Amino acid sequence: MRNRRAVLAAIAGAASLALTVSACGGETSEAGSEGGTIGVALPTRASERWLTDGKSVVEDLRDKGYKTELVYGDDDPKAQVSQVEKLIKQGVDALIIAAIDNKSLNGALRQAAEAGIPVISYDRLILGTKNVDYYVSFDNEQVGRLQALHIIDELGLEDGKGPFNIELFAGSPDDNNTKYFFDGAMHLLQPYLDSEQLVVRSGQTELDEITTLRWDGPTAQKRMNGLLDETYRTETVDAVLSPYDGISIGILSALKSHGYGTAGEPLPVITGQDAELASVKSIIAGEQSQTVYKDLRQLAGVAADMADDILNDKTPELNNRRSYNNGVKAVPAYLLQPMSVDKTNYEYLLVASGYYTEAELK
Ligand code: GAL
Repeated sequence: MRNRRAVLAAIAGAASLALTVSACGGETSEAGSEGGTIGVALPTRASERWLTDGKSVVEDLRDKGYKTELVYGDDDPKAQVSQVEKLIKQGVDALIIAAIDNKSLNGALRQAAEAGIPVISYDRLILGTKNVDYYVSFDNEQVGRLQALHIIDELGLEDGKGPFNIELFAGSPDDNNTKYFFDGAMHLLQPYLDSEQLVVRSGQTELDEITTLRWDGPTAQKRMNGLLDETYRTETVDAVLSPYDGISIGILSALKSHGYGTAGEPLPVITGQDAELASVKSIIAGEQSQTVYKDLRQLAGVAADMADDILNDKTPELNNRRSYNNGVKAVPAYLLQPMSVDKTNYEYLLVASGYYTEAELK
């Protein structure tokens, strides 16, 4: 690896950003000429959060004097593998990757290792390979705990209230985060299932029964429609554990089409994650009840710092070396803290922090 710090310092002031569409369908960001190029491979443009991630990572790397090649895999694991292979062939200096399928990149990462290209797993851990150097994410179990705590508080479970009907949704089976979110939530919900203050009327409580391929909202909507048709003809659903805002919006559509959301039949408590604009607006409107805010500006900042440190032969700042084992090794990680957002604190957490403006939330 090269020592670029002096060169970077010299060019940082003069760096200018130009965006062009690259041959692999991504965006090329030009900073100074000597900082090196970092490939950034993200899963999808269909969800607002990944657009924010892409923009923030590119800006942060540009500020450090790097060029970037940003590509989106459009939720197609094969397309992402080709994109990463192409970035390796182009000779990028480092890779920052949020995988679509946590195991499909092993072959590509072998090529990266052979070419001496360091790899940072971004938000989602890549499994089954030694060729991933660092991981940057949030405390993913805590995300699930925050969702469960919201349900526990809203239903008054600690005060002994119940029984209430709850249905459980999980994320994509090929995303390593899915089981962390689910385990974190179930750790806190299980005692209430055991005491029957919470009842899952569908009986679907195992992770493999409740996943949502590629975190797709319409897929979740379809499953919720089925549950309402089959299980809730005479019963009412009081809470839905949803792991992600896009899924929550799909669940809400199903509920509304079945008559929920009126004075006689209020919407259940519905959690979420990512503080996406549509969901924050939904929370303000009294529909979705909660989301988990993960400041993506921080995530991007840590990833950019990590890449810069690696390329300057420094060990990046880490705060967790054990929790994230990818099946081959414990990947050294930096984990950020997620925060629970509902109608009582969104202004403070999302507006005062500059994540959204008041106008955006109108
Ligand atoms: C997960 C991520 C969540 C959410 C989800 C769907 O990997 O940790 O924050 O964005 O993907 O995109």
